[in-house]
Amino acid sequence: MKNLILALCLFVSYVGYAQQASTEQWRPNFHFSPAKNWTNDPNGLVYHEGEWHIFYQYNPFENKWGHMSWGHAVSKDLVNWEHLPVAIPEDSVWIFSGGVVIDKNNTSGFGANSMVAIYTADYHGKKENQHLAYSTDKGRTWTKYKGNPIIPAPMPGGKAMKDFRDPNMFWHEPSKQWVMVVVLPLEFKAQFYGSKNLTNWTLLSEFSKQGDLRKMWECPSLIELPIEGEQGTRWVLMLSSNGPHQDFIGMQYFVGTFDGKTFTNDNPADTKLYVDYGKDFYAAIPFYNAPKKSMLGWMASWNYTDALPTFPWKGQMSIPREISLKRTKEGVRLLQKPAEEVLKAKNWRGLVQMEEMGIEEDNGMMWQNQAGSYMIDVEFELNGAREVGVKVMKNPTNNQETLIGYQKDSEQLYINRINSGKVIAPNFASMDASPMKEERGTVRLLVFVDQSSIEVFGNEGEAVITSLIFPEGNSGNWQLFSRGGRAKVTKLKVWEWQKD
Ligand code: FRU
Repeated sequence: MKNLILALCLFVSYVGYAQQASTEQWRPNFHFSPAKNWTNDPNGLVYHEGEWHIFYQYNPFENKWGHMSWGHAVSKDLVNWEHLPVAIPEDSVWIFSGGVVIDKNNTSGFGANSMVAIYTADYHGKKENQHLAYSTDKGRTWTKYKGNPIIPAPMPGGKAMKDFRDPNMFWHEPSKQWVMVVVLPLEFKAQFYGSKNLTNWTLLSEFSKQGDLRKMWECPSLIELPIEGEQGTRWVLMLSSNGPHQDFIGMQYFVGTFDGKTFTNDNPADTKLYVDYGKDFYAAIPFYNAPKKSMLGWMASWNYTDALPTFPWKGQMSIPREISLKRTKEGVRLLQKPAEEVLKAKNWRGLVQMEEMGIEEDNGMMWQNQAGSYMIDVEFELNGAREVGVKVMKNPTNNQETLIGYQKDSEQLYINRINSGKVIAPNFASMDASPMKEERGTVRLLVFVDQSSIEVFGNEGEAVITSLIFPEGNSGNWQLFSRGGRAKVTKLKVWEWQKD
């Protein structure tokens, strides 16, 4: 009977596949996407013996959420990914999000340098426990631990909690223990657990009801980051939650200290700090054991996932971002910069390099790009202009375009995707803005366009916006613009992505 149901499932999904046309024009070139089927959160990001690993929430059977398992890919350069077989498949439970650490000193007894994954076992929406699996062959095969669950769902009033998920772990040297952060999403609570061996965990402390409390808390992580230009460090607690835009998901962070037991927020409890001001950046977690502090996130939004128009895959990851902190007048804030590996990828072909060029209102100068994947690094002196920016993915035939700009009066960086292409859901067409200040009259935009996504890093990574777009037809063109006066482009460099 079981086999019959499986055969039927496969047949139905095969018929579905046969009917739908592929949308390779929206397939990213330098962002990770699964060859086929659905992905959401990145899981277990880790660097190990020369390889970067992405595990990810994956449906092995269909192009929609379901059958949650951990997909797997590895890369030597953070740009080209080799797809590997499903690492941790669903069984009687779904394999939800979690982290991976490298157990260098064999604290767990699974073997020196084993990879240890801890993830949420979801009982089809009824209950969530934390489970463990390990690999002693560089992540190629995984064994589910016999002693699972390692942390069962809390049972207030004798009833197991339905929502208790997304563990992320790291080794905390000062207290000589593994530390895990995991959330009770609907209580807006992060719990910290400690362990000597990755299998027995004790509750250390809780952090709750601070920051943004509008939706729920998911996918937490805790990482110690350097403050640029200073000796000191600060701890950053990141959470996926409601984002900066009302009713849309996003990510927030807290800056503070961690003493091996408790995370203490530096800021008043109601301070809200957001990671990314687009609508398509969620569930980011840091790479464990990486040479540089870095992270990547899922580029989509639960607000309109059903409407994502790509086939035969749905979901992609952001580019990896190097993360650090900066002291500002308002306090210590997160900086995100594109990973150096992406900037240095051998596929970039220089197209334009210019300095000192005046631009007027939509001055008509337009560059034609053949490819839909490019990187623009531009610095403007605003002078008399009220707004400067670049229009990308311009299509002269249907007038579609996406605007990335800076508004002087509102002191905001923005992506405007109102006329960017296919409007996949009523709430999709929007202009999303982030606070950003010009520095001595200049702003710098580093823009990544990759077929169906835009990521813009404002100034030196102080403001970041991530947006999906689905342009229709030939739309590689781009153009600089200023509004309300003449601006000067002090530096401009553009590269086009050439496929191998
Ligand atoms: C976040 C999330 C996680 C969960 C996973 C399930 O996007 O809801 O909380 O573990 O997705 O796929």
